Amino acid sequence: MTPPKRILSGVQPSGKLHLGNYFGAVKQHIEMQSQGQCFFFIANYHALTTVQEAAREAKRKPGTVLAESTRDVALDYLALGLDPNVAIFFRQSDVPEVTELAWILATVTNMGLLERAVSYKDKLDRGIEATVGLFTYPVLMAADILVYRSNLVPVGKDQVQHLEMTCDMAVKFNRAFAEVFPEPQPFVPKQEGRAKVPGTDGQKMSKSYGNTIDIFAEGKALEKSVMSIKTNSTPLGQPLDPDTCMVYALYGLFATDEEKAALAADYRAGAIGYGGAKKLLNAKIDAYFAPFRLKRKELAKDAATVEDILRAGAKKARVEASKTMELVRAATGLT
Ligand code: ADP
Ligand code: TRP
Repeated sequence: MTPPKRILSGVQPSGKLHLGNYFGAVKQHIEMQSQGQCFFFIANYHALTTVQEAAREAKRKPGTVLAESTRDVALDYLALGLDPNVAIFFRQSDVPEVTELAWILATVTNMGLLERAVSYKDKLDRGIEATVGLFTYPVLMAADILVYRSNLVPVGKDQVQHLEMTCDMAVKFNRAFAEVFPEPQPFVPKQEGRAKVPGTDGQKMSKSYGNTIDIFAEGKALEKSVMSIKTNSTPLGQPLDPDTCMVYALYGLFATDEEKAALAADYRAGAIGYGGAKKLLNAKIDAYFAPFRLKRKELAKDAATVEDILRAGAKKARVEASKTMELVRAATGLT
């Protein structure tokens, strides 16, 4: 019998989850729970590369910001339907084996490979300090994936280059020492518009661009971000082009094919303005996430249970990570 596929992914606790994170990654994670042996984790070591900036902006201590956002992501996942009895759900730093493997992988990683990382360059362009941690971020990410000998990694399009780097490290290690690691494949959502969800300004939606619509926002806060979606200045009553409109693109993530066709027809006929379309989108987002918001509020009352879930998950994850590290230590001659 072939062993079940290992599916793994991580999300950084670096701010509130938004529609891009949800449709590009988290929704897939939850849907894939029953399709293999799943490992999902909160990448708090990775978040350390940017938490100081976030804390500075919020005028708070980095430690309190990281601890709080880690708890927030845990609540988000559990509220959205992650079942900790089915998937292994844990905090990255509770499995220290991953930092040991990161060091070993660093010794088979070419500097040039890391220098080509687009996300590193992007972060420097945004003014984030060029620390060694930020530069070697992809090595730690490869260790996350390889320490569980994962086969499939559901992520948004922006992470595909990191997956290619992971394969490079796996191949180099296997060639140098012994066949320990499978080559993991990225799983990027194929559904229209999900792999790169646009933000309110038309760029990729991202916490670091300040253009997000947060999935647990409600009332005035939700309305404010939906109303801030950039549109052109076509006057009311004139035809609009659905194919170039972000409001329409985001509406498409929630609507049925019939609903999409109806709104597209109204756009083309000049029967709806951007304001009206935004109201429809706001109602869709609000209704879609309402049950998850309720569940999240319930879960938030019991912080101890959330902590227990993460610790129990880490215990299971460590069993697998330890098995891999025994193979790695033997192959490299460390033991
Ligand atoms: P952010 O860019 O907001 O910091 P992260 O880098 O923490 O988001 O991404 C977490 C996950 O969500 C990754 O798998 C990433 O590919 C996915 N993701 C982030 N933004 C988007 C987006 N706009 N569209 C699709 N997927 C996204
Ligand atoms: N770099 C990923 C992101 O920003 C988060 C992450 C860390 C990850 N380790 C991972 C994703 C391993 C998939 C697999 O979204």
